[in-house]
Parts: sequence; C-alpha cells; structure tokens
Amino acid sequence: MSVGIDEISFYTSNFYLDLRTLAAKQQTDPEKYYTGIGQEKMAMATHDEDIVTMAANAALPLIERIGTNAISTLLLATETGIDQSKAAGIYVHRLLGLNANCRVVELKQACYSATAALQMACALVARQPTTKVLVIASDIARYDLDTPGEATQGCGAVAMLISHNPRIMAIDAEVGNYTDDVMDFWRPNYRSTALVDGKYSTKIYLKALKKTWDSFSEVSRIGFNDFSYFCYHLPFSRMAQKAHQHLAKSNQCELSAEGIEAQIQPTLRYNQIIGNSYTASIYIGLCSLLDNVKENLAGKKVGFFSYGSGCVAEFFSGSIQEGYQACLHTQRHMDMLAERQELNYDQYLDLYRYPDPRQGESVEIPKATLGRFRLAAIHQHKREYVAC
Ligand code: CAA
Repeated sequence: MSVGIDEISFYTSNFYLDLRTLAAKQQTDPEKYYTGIGQEKMAMATHDEDIVTMAANAALPLIERIGTNAISTLLLATETGIDQSKAAGIYVHRLLGLNANCRVVELKQACYSATAALQMACALVARQPTTKVLVIASDIARYDLDTPGEATQGCGAVAMLISHNPRIMAIDAEVGNYTDDVMDFWRPNYRSTALVDGKYSTKIYLKALKKTWDSFSEVSRIGFNDFSYFCYHLPFSRMAQKAHQHLAKSNQCELSAEGIEAQIQPTLRYNQIIGNSYTASIYIGLCSLLDNVKENLAGKKVGFFSYGSGCVAEFFSGSIQEGYQACLHTQRHMDMLAERQELNYDQYLDLYRYPDPRQGESVEIPKATLGRFRLAAIHQHKREYVAC
C-alpha cells in the first residue's frame, strides 16, 4: 500500500511589497534582492489575517472537494504560534466544520515541523488506511526592520491531505535525518520577530543537507540520478540554488549547469513572489513544481530537503502519480496570485505593525483580506475568527 499526498493547495496574503520598493527606501541596489538572494516580492499579512485564517483558507479548496468525513486528524505545523497552550488548529477545525471526533494538535520545530507532520500523518494512515489526515503548514516570516533578514519576510500556508493510494504523490518510507543543537535562528517567547545569525544559518543549512543526504543514501536505493526534480526549504530562492549545486557537485553529477538548475527552477517560482513562509515554503515549492511544469510528471521522482533552524533536517523522496493533474488547484493558485495588490512603503509599515492588545483591550479589526476567513476582533485576550 502506498501513502502520500492526495491533494495540496496553498494560500498567501492578497498584498505584497516589491523588493524594489524596499531597496529604494534602503538606498540599496535592487539587484541585491532580485539577483543576489533571488527574491522579487514578499507577501504581507493584513491585520485580519494570521496563521489560523491562512491555514483555513489554504485547506478550504480541499474540504470543498472531498468533504470532512474521512479526516481523522488535523496536524498544524507553525513557528508563528498565537498561543502557548491552545492549538491554533482548533480554530481551523471549527472554521472548516471538521468532525468533533477529529483530533487536532500543533507541531513546532522551526521550518521543519511540516515535514514531521507529514511523516506522522503517513504513519497514522498506514495504520488506519480508511482515514485521511489533514496537514497544514502556516507561517508569517518576520524580522526586525533595517536588518539583513528584512528582505526575506513573507507569509503563506499550505494544506495537504494525506491518504492511502494518494492521487498526487506517494512518499517513500526511507528518510535521512540530522539534528544538531545550534543557534542559527530562533525566537524567544517574548519576541515577535526572529533573531538570526544570517551567514552562519546558510552554512548550517548546507551542512545539514550533506548530512541528511549521506544518511538517506545509506538507507535508500534511490541515487541522485534517479531524481527528476528537487524541492528545498526556501528561505530565499538563491539558498536552494546554492544548495542544489552543492549536492549535485558532491554526487559528481554530469548534467550541465543549466540541467542542474532545471531540476529546481520550477519549484522556486511561487516563493520568489511570496517570500519566506517558513514551514510552508518547501510545500509551496511543490505546488509551484506541480502547477508550472508543462511535461507530464507522472512516474518522476522528487527529492525533498526540509530544514528547520536550531536544527532538524530531513531528506526524503516521493513519486508523482498517474493522473495527478486532475487533482491540482492550479487555476485557483494562479488567480489568487494575479489578484494581489502592491503596497507602497508606508502601507507595508502599517501592516508590519499589527494590533497587539497585550493588556486585554478590545480591538475590532477592519476587513482587508480577500480570503474566506478572517480575524475580526480580539477581546479580553480572545481571538474571534469569522467566515466572510
Ligand atoms: N547585485 C547582485 N548581487 C548582489 C548585489 C548586487 N548589487 N549585492 C549583493 N549581492 C549578492 C551578494 O554577493 C550575496 O551573494 P552570495 O551569497 O552569492 O555571496 C547576496 O547578494 C546576499 O548579499 P549579502 O551576503 O551581502 O546579504 P546580507 O548579508 O545582507 O543578507 C542573508 C543575506 C544573511 C541571507 C539575510 O538575508 C538573512 O539573514 N536572512 C535570514 C536568514 C536566512 O534566511 N537564512 C537561511 C538559512 S536558515 C533557514 O533556512 C531557516 C529560515 O527559514 C530562516
């Protein structure tokens, strides 16, 4: 029996800042962003959006298609948690109308946790093949203003339905893991923005790639040349390009530089115009591959490198299934991205400074998102979510 991704859909905010606008404000050459880190735009969540509304909006197309009956578990992966105790997925459970007997839990390990959720979901489905597990990754990447990380912000959520005999991608059981106690990127409870040792983080990312690949190679019969495409965690697209060149070189890959680039290029497109979405980014990369490659991907092997600072990393693989095209949400994704509105710098700053009623004040939040679900108010420390 195969287990894997039966449906996948993503959501991002309807507003973005072009990195040319940021560069002009900082008096920086925009090519540093467009070419140097390979990013063009970054999505900015509106005040009535957070990881809950983005998660529900990402999952809605799946629920509209397959209903709620078979979903036994909702796993929500995030590093932008809104509560230290209550799982954000419980709000999502209500907004989507999931059954009361569906279990809900939240997972955290920086940008890796969606992969942990995916593997746990596969294990649950393997044990009870009649059930399906809804995995959602949802994050808002935020750094301090005027820091090197500022240009690598963004936001997004991706929802995946995990089932047996999946219609999009079967996931192989063999994986390579790597864990190390490092301080490359972290966010203490009292901070709303991440702290990062930027250059060090990119070095650790590459080290973790090599370690997970070595560990994967020990347990899997699949070699570098068996893969057609690779999806990487995407803090910014240049990071994945560098990582893939590194991996190709260490495997003595005989492809031309263009051939190596072609193995990841289609996975980068959405993230280049959305920005970092932490846990969601690698799977938005998968959406980008599925939606944008014209050739039939059925039967192709895809390699995945998932990286979460701190750090935990994993290399795993999957096979695209015959007829996968019928299960995609390509048009919906394209329409959502085409309808986005550009922000000027002041509007960006306004969204950056979101409501934060720490003393229990009441805040009514005006409607701004075009998504179906929104955060309408915060009263006495309670967040109130509604469907539009
Ligand atoms: N034209 C073209 N290229 C230019 C340029 C120009 N005018 N000016 C600079 N560049 C190039 C530089 O040469 C450099 O390229 P190389 O890396 O190939 O040398 C690139 O643009 C970036 O320039 P800098 O190194 O000067 O950039 P920086 O130090 O200001 O910031 C960064 C880069 C450290 C990655 C920063 O964006 C950052 O801290 N980001 C957040 C941390 C991060 O994303 N880390 C990734 C690994 S950790 C992870 O993956 C988890 C996660 O999600 C955060």
